[in-house]
Amino acid sequence: MRWRCRFLLVLLAPSLHAQIPEAQRRSDFEFMGPAVQAMQRDDARNPAMLWVQQGAQLWQQAAGASGKSCASCHGDVSSLRGVATRYPAFDTPTQGPVNLAQRINRCRQSQQRAAPWKLESEELLALESLVALQSRGLPITPPADVRLQSHLERGRQLYAQRLGQLDLSCAQCHDQRWGQRLGGTTIPQGHPTSYPQYRLEWQGLGSLQRRLRNCLSGVRAQAWPLGARELVELELFLGVRARGLPLEAPGVRP
Ligand code: HEC
Ligand code: HEC
Repeated sequence: MRWRCRFLLVLLAPSLHAQIPEAQRRSDFEFMGPAVQAMQRDDARNPAMLWVQQGAQLWQQAAGASGKSCASCHGDVSSLRGVATRYPAFDTPTQGPVNLAQRINRCRQSQQRAAPWKLESEELLALESLVALQSRGLPITPPADVRLQSHLERGRQLYAQRLGQLDLSCAQCHDQRWGQRLGGTTIPQGHPTSYPQYRLEWQGLGSLQRRLRNCLSGVRAQAWPLGARELVELELFLGVRARGLPLEAPGVRP
């Protein structure tokens, strides 16, 4: 990653904040230049809307042995307004947290009785964008579910733990050094408000897990594979940490 070799400069800079006070929390949208902000503000210019359109087609398409579409059971997709604000959520079959993409795949498998999509596939990102868009502007509202507690604690611990050859924790960058420059980039606070997200660097749409894997390889840590429990636990903690911030999915980042 382009910021990888500049980490030393960041570490030499004074640490400003231990933990982000609620009044100072802000979406990483605020740290971007005006050109990228304008792309996100205007749906006609937001490339992620192409995936939303594809998602709207898939929503209507019958699939699997059930011969049903998402619409057959859920009706208009606006019925899922609010859903994206409370994921990851507890999943009874696996007795653990699942993120929104995994939840959609569960319906794909057990309700439509079709083969699940690959994580990070265009189809799954498309449907996830469509569902996330229904919650745009609503505050992130992690569920108060005691069954999630141990997973949340594990996510909190992973966030604070030093990782990789650079021996840096998420907190050291995103809680203690946000707003500082790292290479050509401003370190953002690292909130999960805009996923799936179109990244100019990716030239495509990606999930929060893809982003987390980027940060992990940035510190030269072995990144957990897509769908790993650890990544979902990190997502869970990021949701709690961003509680109340409005969803802006699908967002755009540089
Ligand atoms: C055969 C009926 C059926 C089909 C087809 C179906 N679902 Fe579902 N879906 C359900 C049921 C039942 C639930 C559980 C509702 C609940 O827990 O209140 C659910 C739950 C969900 C949830 C979680 C909602 C929440 O409140 O947490 C999402 C997201 C979802 N479905 C998306 C989809 C998508 C996307 C498709 C198409 C790929 C789809 N579903 C296809 C029946 C279906
Ligand atoms: C060395 C500093 C550093 C570390 C350590 C780090 N990140 Fe990041 N992170 C960044 C930078 C810089 C960006 C901005 C994206 C870019 O341009 O690469 C970013 C972006 C993000 C974003 C995207 C925010 C958005 O609006 O899209 C999230 C979420 C995030 N990081 C979470 C994490 C988590 C969780 C960890 C620990 C596993 C972590 N980061 C570790 C520097 C770091």
